[in-house]
Amino acid sequence: MIVTPNHSAYNILKDYEWNYAHVPSSKPHISKPAVEISGEWTYAGLPVRSPLAVAAGPLLNSEWIKFYAERSFDILTYKTVRRCSRVSYGLPNLVPIEAMRVQRPGASVRGIRQMTGSWAVSFGMPSREPKIWRDDLVTARQSLGAGQILSVSVVATPEEGDDLKTIGEDYASCARWAFESGADVVELNFSCPNVKTPDGMLYTQPTASRDVLYRVRDLVGDKPLLVKLGFVGEDALARNWVELSGGLVQGLVMTNCIGAKVQSPDGKDFFSGESRGIAGAAISEAVRKQVSTFQSLIHEHRSKVKTIAVGGVTEATDVSDYLKLGVEGVQTATAAMLNPSWAVSVKSELQKADGAQSV
Ligand SMILES: Cc1cc2nc3c(=O)[nH]c(=O)nc-3n(C[C@H](O)[C@H](O)[C@H](O)COP(=O)(O)O)c2cc1C
Repeated sequence: MIVTPNHSAYNILKDYEWNYAHVPSSKPHISKPAVEISGEWTYAGLPVRSPLAVAAGPLLNSEWIKFYAERSFDILTYKTVRRCSRVSYGLPNLVPIEAMRVQRPGASVRGIRQMTGSWAVSFGMPSREPKIWRDDLVTARQSLGAGQILSVSVVATPEEGDDLKTIGEDYASCARWAFESGADVVELNFSCPNVKTPDGMLYTQPTASRDVLYRVRDLVGDKPLLVKLGFVGEDALARNWVELSGGLVQGLVMTNCIGAKVQSPDGKDFFSGESRGIAGAAISEAVRKQVSTFQSLIHEHRSKVKTIAVGGVTEATDVSDYLKLGVEGVQTATAAMLNPSWAVSVKSELQKADGAQSV
C-alpha cells in the first residue's frame, strides 16, 4: 500500500475522478494576508503579483484553482484539457519513489510506500469534454483576485494518420476556446511522458512544432502563449527551440516530468513495465541544468523569449536561484501538492531574505 503524504490536499490513494469531486474546502490558515515579494513581475508578458505558479496537474477544476488562489499562488495553471473527453488511467496514479537523482530519461527507479519528495506520475492527461471545461474556466477566472493569472494547459488528441495540419488545428481550437472562456495565458503542452501515445513528444521535433505554433498563432492572434517542453538532452535541440520560439511565443516552460521505469521493492514492474514521468526533487538537478542552458542561449541569440522553471522546485532558495538566473516564473506541482500553503511560506522567506540584504 502507498501512504498518503501528510498535509497533502490531493489524496493519492484515491483516483482522479474522486479527487476531481473532492476538493479540500478548508479556509486558508493565514491570520493576515501573505507578505508579497517586492519587485515587479510578469508572466507571459502580463503583470502579475508574484512569479509563483502552480504547474499543470494539481488543479483539476475551478474549485481546485480557487483553493490554491486563496493560498497565495498567483499563477494558477488549469490541468491539461483536450478537444474531447478522455478518461484517466487507473490507480496507482502517483507512486512515491526512493530518493535519487534522475538526470535523463530511461532510468530505473524504485517505488516505495512513503513519499520522500519524488514520485512517478501516471494519469494519461484525462480531460472533460470541452463544454464542461469551458464553462468551468469561466468560474475559475471569476475566483481569482487582482494580480492573479489563469493559465490553461492544452494538448492535441491526434488519431492514427493525422497530419500536422490537423494536429495544429486541434491545438489551435483548444487554445481559442480557453481564451474565449477567460484564460489569460495558454500553455501548449508539447511534452508529456505520462502517456503511452505520441502526443507526448512533439517538442522533440522542432520543425513540426513550429508548424503547429504558426497554426495556433493564426487563430489566437497576439494572445500570450507558452510552450511546455520536456527533457532536452542535446544543445542542438535547445538551440532550435530558442531560434524558433522568438516572436512566436512568450515563454518556454521546462521541464515536464522525466520518464523512467518503476519497480516495486520486490522487483515487480509498476505500469506493466512502461515508463512514466518522474516529478519532484529527483529531477531538480536536470531541470536546473536545462534552464541554465536555455538562459545562456537566449542571451547569446538576444531572443525575447522567457523561460519558466518547473521540476523539483521545493525550497524558497530554489525560487530565488531561478529568479537570479533570469526566469520569468517558477512553477511547482509536487511541492504545492504536499504543502498547499507553500507559496505563503516562500513569499515570507523571500521577503525576509530581501529585508536582510537591504539592512
Ligand atoms: C499529479 C500531477 C499531474 C500532472 N499533470 C500534468 C498535466 O496534465 N499536464 C502537464 O503538462 N504536466 C503535468 N504534470 C507535470 C507537472 O506540470 C510538472 O512538469 C512536473 O510535475 C515537475 O514539477 P514538480 O517537480 O514540481 O512536480 C503533472 C504532475 C503531477 C505531479
